[in-house]
Amino acid sequence: MRDIFRKKDLSNQKGEFHRSLGLLDVTFIGVGAVIGAGIFVITGQAAATMAGPAIVLSFLLGAVMVGITALIYAELSSAYPVAGSAYSFTFASLGEVFAWFVGWNLLLEYGVATAAVATGWSGYLRRFLEESVGIDIPKALSGAYNPAAGTYIDISAFSIILLIFFLLAIGIKESARVNTAIVMIKLVVLITFVVVGLPHVDFHNLSNFLPFGWTGVWHGASLIIFAYLGFDAISTVAEETKNPTRNIPMGLILSLILSVVFFILVSFTLTAIVPYQELNVPDALAFALYKVNEPFAANVIALGAVITITTVMLVMGLGFTRILFALSRDGLLPKNLSSIHPKYNTPYKATLIGGVLLSVMAGLIPLKVLAELVNIGTLFAYLMVTIAIVVLRLKNKIQPAFRVPAFQVLIPLNIILIIFIIAGLPFETWVRFIGWSFIGFLIYAFYGTKKEKIL
Ligand code: ALA
Repeated sequence: MRDIFRKKDLSNQKGEFHRSLGLLDVTFIGVGAVIGAGIFVITGQAAATMAGPAIVLSFLLGAVMVGITALIYAELSSAYPVAGSAYSFTFASLGEVFAWFVGWNLLLEYGVATAAVATGWSGYLRRFLEESVGIDIPKALSGAYNPAAGTYIDISAFSIILLIFFLLAIGIKESARVNTAIVMIKLVVLITFVVVGLPHVDFHNLSNFLPFGWTGVWHGASLIIFAYLGFDAISTVAEETKNPTRNIPMGLILSLILSVVFFILVSFTLTAIVPYQELNVPDALAFALYKVNEPFAANVIALGAVITITTVMLVMGLGFTRILFALSRDGLLPKNLSSIHPKYNTPYKATLIGGVLLSVMAGLIPLKVLAELVNIGTLFAYLMVTIAIVVLRLKNKIQPAFRVPAFQVLIPLNIILIIFIIAGLPFETWVRFIGWSFIGFLIYAFYGTKKEKIL
């Protein structure tokens, strides 16, 4: 019987990629992954159905938890600048079987989020094409598989995933350049929303600030946590980053600060210019500006969303391939998934498989079903990382360049917050999570434990 609790020694881990990414690249990889469908699509729906204008408080609650988690990632990735993020950290501290479950859930996070975001993106694209260009995508090709409704595949979601994974297969540097340019546009789009929106603030819209009470703020936080997901993708590219012990922690913290500032400003503006009850639409930001009679800015926002949500898919897709790579490198999934392309220097097999698998998911499964799957897997990974850092510190095993401040206060607080936010998720999400974990358990039991690991 193999030792399923064996730990991985990361201190001698050799990087397998060229180091081509700088601080700006990694910060923008973070922002590229974080600011996306969450703020563009989910915030309006969460405000309308869960929290009302107090959605801004849900964002603040999420920011505290994600902020502490980012500090933990910063410490761990400054100690171990290797690919794999939460997965590698757990392998080093809690052992193989826990690491497998974290890796398995990160595949869920990055993979399903990529597909979910593609589906949300395709909704914006359809609207933009219909309203500004006058092109209608045939109904049969415009939605998830649902013959009763006359839709068979969401062809735009399917195609964008293939394009994204093609970019990822031809090289990290090219992908990072595309990402940096698009993130710039994304920030300009959000600034436009706030600057054009603020003069239309009507404080009547905020007078019923807590229409669903504090429970609404809690449920809202459990849902909009989706908007924050992705910052951890930074630590999946540690092996491709120059001076990673400095650039990875700084990139994590900078990208999160930027995201929090934008989320607070945008969610405040959104709920202050339009009554929250009206925000349950697929394109809340553009819709709100139409409502206050700013059609030009609204069109800019709609097009901007289409362009910029691509970066979320790019970075989430990148994270997915790197986790697949790490699981394969350690022998928990078939070995050839970790082979590196001789010319493009990318894990091209993991990338191709990811592209095919996720494009089919995005094409056939509705956004809601996909999005619901994502949050719980990620929160579970955050919880494991929070426990991992305690174990590693107790064993005195790490010599990080960056350390979490006020450790004794922030770590217990984070554990409480994560459990609290997980508890706010709906029951079906729990059931799906248990199903996904069970499949993971079977793969580990029948494949993972049988293979020789290279540690
Ligand atoms: N945080 C990412 C988004 O908002 C997943 O789309």
